[in-house]
Amino acid sequence: MPKLAILGGKPLAAKSKKWAKWPVSEESDAQLVAKITRSNRWSFDGPVEWDFAQKFTAYQGAKFGACCANGTVGIQMALEALGIGAYDEVIVPGMTWQATAAACVDVNAIPVLVDVEADTYNLDLDKVEAAITSKTKAIIVVHLYGCVTDLDRLQRICKKNNLFLIEDCAHQHGTFWKGRGVGSFGEVSSWSFQESKVLSSGEGGFNMCKTKELFYKLYSLRNCGRPYPAEPAVFGLKKAAPMETALQSGNYRLTEWQAALLLGGLSRLDKQVKDRDANAIYLNSLLAQIPGIQVMRRRPQVTQQSYFNFTFRIDAKELGVDNTQFCQALDAEAGVAELFEPPYEPLNGCGLYKPLTKTRHNLSAAYKKAITPKRFSLPVCEDANKYTGVCAHPQLLMNSKADMEVVAAMVKKIVDNIDELRAVKTGARKQFKALPV
Ligand SMILES: Cc1ncc(COP(=O)(O)O)c(C=O)c1O
Repeated sequence: MPKLAILGGKPLAAKSKKWAKWPVSEESDAQLVAKITRSNRWSFDGPVEWDFAQKFTAYQGAKFGACCANGTVGIQMALEALGIGAYDEVIVPGMTWQATAAACVDVNAIPVLVDVEADTYNLDLDKVEAAITSKTKAIIVVHLYGCVTDLDRLQRICKKNNLFLIEDCAHQHGTFWKGRGVGSFGEVSSWSFQESKVLSSGEGGFNMCKTKELFYKLYSLRNCGRPYPAEPAVFGLKKAAPMETALQSGNYRLTEWQAALLLGGLSRLDKQVKDRDANAIYLNSLLAQIPGIQVMRRRPQVTQQSYFNFTFRIDAKELGVDNTQFCQALDAEAGVAELFEPPYEPLNGCGLYKPLTKTRHNLSAAYKKAITPKRFSLPVCEDANKYTGVCAHPQLLMNSKADMEVVAAMVKKIVDNIDELRAVKTGARKQFKALPV
């Protein structure tokens, strides 16, 4: 009789087990949404939106911030606000959601894909330095998978090479580096409030920035190019608009209802991040004792770590299985489909990153060649995606401390019965994430 649930054995988690669900809300959120519905203030620049924008910016320790439609246009506007455009090179990690690179192509820049560190899946700064050329204008760092690259060194690299730092913080609302929030280090940062994210309004995004000039530009870019008005007087900016002329842009705003959900979510965020972080630390301490399992590296400068995905690695060679087999075996033990899955497909072979399929990117033969994803070599990203990386969906860490023991027991059970798993053929790999990104 097989032991592993994937082969018909008894699952480790009880059938009746209810894993935490995400997103969550409270009655007060519903009340605020209803109040807005009954008011005649539904669209952008409403009081709830700016209340949220100021509180979230302050929480992350940044100077200025504004809501926008989603995290994809947030990156696009970050680039545009910094004057980055046609043929400029922007360094982007090879492992990230496709939006980080797609936004660069959408401003006609060239995303230069750089490999990640094997133990954090965040930008490898040696490789970043090697990728800098005279055309490089910016580095987009993505804080991913519950890890942060060396932000101090990254800032030094940017300063030395006169490059802008853009932070893609879509995964890490509430992460602090030496006590200061991520998103406050780069010239501009971008955030996502998509449904699965740690702070969510279904869809939505945000930009933070260091100077009022950038804030005025970001305001304008998200609002059809309109100059920043004297009202609302936010972030202490009481004077009339310093921008007299409009910019070319589109409508990238969000609504007052979304802001209401964000305000509610923000009031719970810090506690949720702390709870998830405590669970992650505990789970890592248990996983570290299991042979063939490696936990991710947490840099000592990280004073609070926010988790979208919780990640660990398997020694695929030693265990003789790959991460897809391992994730499917974990799902079977947990009794939940796709609670675990491998990390993102590397952008040099990602089914959703197809910059050559849009006519508007057909600027010249040289440009087309420069944005061809396949020209980049990303061995660490490939190894993580194909063999070693195991990512848990965001709600995993929202469960109890005792549940973390169940998760570690599931991992141990699979390792203890790895011979059984070696014989399991997994189905074709999924091209795209089944759950919302
Ligand atoms: C790292 C990263 N950057 C950017 C985005 C884009 O955000 P949005 O979905 O809000 O457009 C995502 C979304 O999943 C993401 O994971």
